[in-house]
Parts: sequence; C-alpha cells; structure tokens
Amino acid sequence: MRNTAVQSYNITEDLEKVRKIIISSADNSIPIIKKCISSITDSGGKMLRPVFLIVCSRIGLNDQEKIYKLAAAVELLHISSLIHDDIIDDADKRRQKPAVHKVYGIKNSVLIGDFLFSRSFSLLAENTSAENGASMAKIAGKICEGEIEQNISARIKDYSMRSYLRRITAKTAILFILSFHLGAVESGCSKELQSTLRKIGYNTGMAFQIIDDILDFTGSENRMGKPAGNDLKTGTITAPIIFAVRTDSSLSERLRKRIPRTKKQTAGIIKEIINLGAIEQSRKLAAVYTERAVREIEKLPEGYTRETLNKLIRDLLLRDY
Ligand code: IPE
Ligand code: IPE
Ligand code: MG
Ligand code: MG
Repeated sequence: MRNTAVQSYNITEDLEKVRKIIISSADNSIPIIKKCISSITDSGGKMLRPVFLIVCSRIGLNDQEKIYKLAAAVELLHISSLIHDDIIDDADKRRQKPAVHKVYGIKNSVLIGDFLFSRSFSLLAENTSAENGASMAKIAGKICEGEIEQNISARIKDYSMRSYLRRITAKTAILFILSFHLGAVESGCSKELQSTLRKIGYNTGMAFQIIDDILDFTGSENRMGKPAGNDLKTGTITAPIIFAVRTDSSLSERLRKRIPRTKKQTAGIIKEIINLGAIEQSRKLAAVYTERAVREIEKLPEGYTRETLNKLIRDLLLRDY
C-alpha cells in the first residue's frame, strides 16, 4: 500500500486478505475485468473504508472472514464510484496510474464500474442482513445523487456552503457511515455504540472530503497519485472556492466568464484563493468535523478501536495525499 497512514495500525495483513477477496470476486469473469481489478487494487489506494470497517469491528467479537468480505464489498463500491468519477471529471490519473477510462476507453470503463458494483452487492448479500443490504443500496443511490448535484451546481454556479455540505455528505460521508456501521453491527456492540460509531464515520467522511478538496488546490500530483487542479478545471465548487468567493465576490464573476484551462491561469487562481485565506478557512472547517469525531471517540470504551480511531482520524486531517 502506498504512503498510507494505516501501516502502523496493525492491519496490513488484514488488508491483504481484503485485497485478495476483491481480486477473486472477478475470478469467473473475462480477462479485461480481471486485469483491471488487479491493476487498480495493486496500485495502492489507501483502503480507508475497509480499514475503518475492520477497526470498528474490533470493538467486540466478530467473525473475521465475514468482516473481510464486507470490507471488500465496501471497497468495491468505492472503486466502482472512482472509475465512474474519473470519467465524469475527465481525470487522467488514479492511484499513480492512468485512469481506467484512459486504458480501456469510456464505454468499457462504464461497464467495468458496473461489474464491480454488482460484485460489491453479491458480497454484501452473501454476508450481511437484508437490512444492511438495503442501506448499501440506498447509499449507492445517494452517491449518484451527490455527483449529479455536483454537476448541476457547477453549471448553475451554486456557491452556497449548505449545498456543498449536502453534496459531500451524499457523495462521500455516507459511505464512511456505512463502513463504520457494518463494522459496528458485526462486532455485536450495543445500539448506543453503533450510533456513536456512525457519528464518527459521518464527521470523518466530511473532514476527509474537505481535505481532499483542499488538496486539489494545494497538493502534489505525485504525492496524491491523481491530478491536482481538476476541480477548478471542471468548475466543481468546493470549500476553498466558496470561502474565496465570500471574501471577493468578483472571483465568481470571473470564473463564470472563464474557467481557467491553462496551467498558468490555474496557478493564478490558486494563488488568489490562497491569498484570500480560503485554504486556511477550509482547513478550519475540516478541523471542526475532526474535532466532532474526536469528541464522539471519547465516548467509546478504552481499547484498540478507540485508540486507533483517535490516531487515524487526526492523521487524516494532516495528510498531503
Ligand atoms: C477518493 O477517495 C475519493 C474521495 C472521496 C475523496 P480516496 O482518497 O479514499 O481514494 P483511494 O481509495 O485512496 O484511491
Ligand atoms: C469524490 O470526489 C468522488 C466520489 C465519491 C466517487 P472527488 O471527485 O473529489 O474525488 P477525486 O478527487 O477524484 O478522488
Ligand atoms: Mg474526481
Ligand atoms: Mg477530489
């Protein structure tokens, strides 16, 4: 796994098992799908959703093999959404490699994403309750809604913070909630602890996407393994832009007239956004969600899950990848 915060959490071997389940979920499939899955799991995603699911499951007793399969299901849904997301965002790189649509073309990539999506649901149906299956189906729909709303907001230039928070809840935070929920439920912990873990999942997911949106302005492509500056190019409205526009309303007018396309134009706007203090404000917003997560973590019983979540979530706030 690449440059990830999870290496020190005693979980590397577990993730290897999850990766094998993901790869074997394409065992009976056609070569192009097998090749694609191996390549995308090889190239070192952070595997954060499986990590959270596994860490949460350790709050109680659990059936490890089942946990790995559920973790694979959640990661498969995530990967499938990334393949489609890169087509929508016209992003050319993912996990340090050419994006799937750059290798296999858009038509095949849409279908490969659908295939992974179906494998995700098979794993889930075989390993959890109908109720959890229904939650996952709902969440898959929400991710699509979040992405559609993002496209619409880019077109109509909706700079409202409230809409942004709703969009990132849908496209990112709820898959975190589900990962925490599945781990919690399978651990057999109390309903109260399950609810606390879901709240941690929500706040972590929100902070995670806000940091991702900051890194799109400040991060290095090499370090992130995916393009920087893409949100600006696609007109995607995220926290840094929203804060910048609040301070300098002429910026929205200028962005409306001309989306920066060249490297020089993009660099100019990024500099402006940094100078307006919008990155700093976005960091503070991410920190607010992280603090909320930390306050919920304090309600957990002492032990591995509490300690690991505490460190992991703080580390994620400081990441540059
Ligand atoms: C990328 O997720 C999409 C977002 C929700 C920001 P990750 O940053 O977890 O991607 P991988 O799995 O590590 O590649
Ligand atoms: C996350 O948003 C998209 C999904 C939930 C699939 P981004 O578009 O910001 O993710 P990256 O930056 O491409 O990884
Ligand atoms: Mg994207
Ligand atoms: Mg992004």
